[in-house]
Amino acid sequence: MATAERVLNDEMIEAIRALFPRYPTRQAVTLPALHIVNERLRHVPLQAVVEIAELLELSPAQVQDTLSFYGFFKQDKPHGRTRVWVCRSISCALRGGEEILEHLCRRAGIEPGETTEDGRLTIEFAECLGGCDFAPCMLAGETLHKNMTIDKADAFLDSLE
Ligand code: FES
Repeated sequence: MATAERVLNDEMIEAIRALFPRYPTRQAVTLPALHIVNERLRHVPLQAVVEIAELLELSPAQVQDTLSFYGFFKQDKPHGRTRVWVCRSISCALRGGEEILEHLCRRAGIEPGETTEDGRLTIEFAECLGGCDFAPCMLAGETLHKNMTIDKADAFLDSLE
């Protein structure tokens, strides 16, 4: 039987191993290890799950359970170089969050949850981003965009081009 090509490189393995002393168990390293792989590959393919499990001395199913629980990690293909979450919870919905999401998706030519063909952008919906006082909100990478408007959404998209 052919062996699957390894996806974790030495740098990722070392970064994961470096976490071991900081956590009480190997299992507790699962989530940060998934983040390490996701930061490098922009997704966590099944083969990476198998390799993380080997490193942590867990079963692949245990790692996969953690991955599926969070709904944050993409598995089939990488998310865009910029990943955007538009809040659709109540405060933001009441203040036009859905329209912002629709507008961004229409301009990018994708549906929520999809990535543009050039790999530039992924747009997703999110539940409350913790900025309800500034609704509607959008998170782009690590930046929270507050009081979003259609104009701000356009300016954001233009800044990516
Ligand atoms: S409801 Fe959108 S940030 Fe809280």
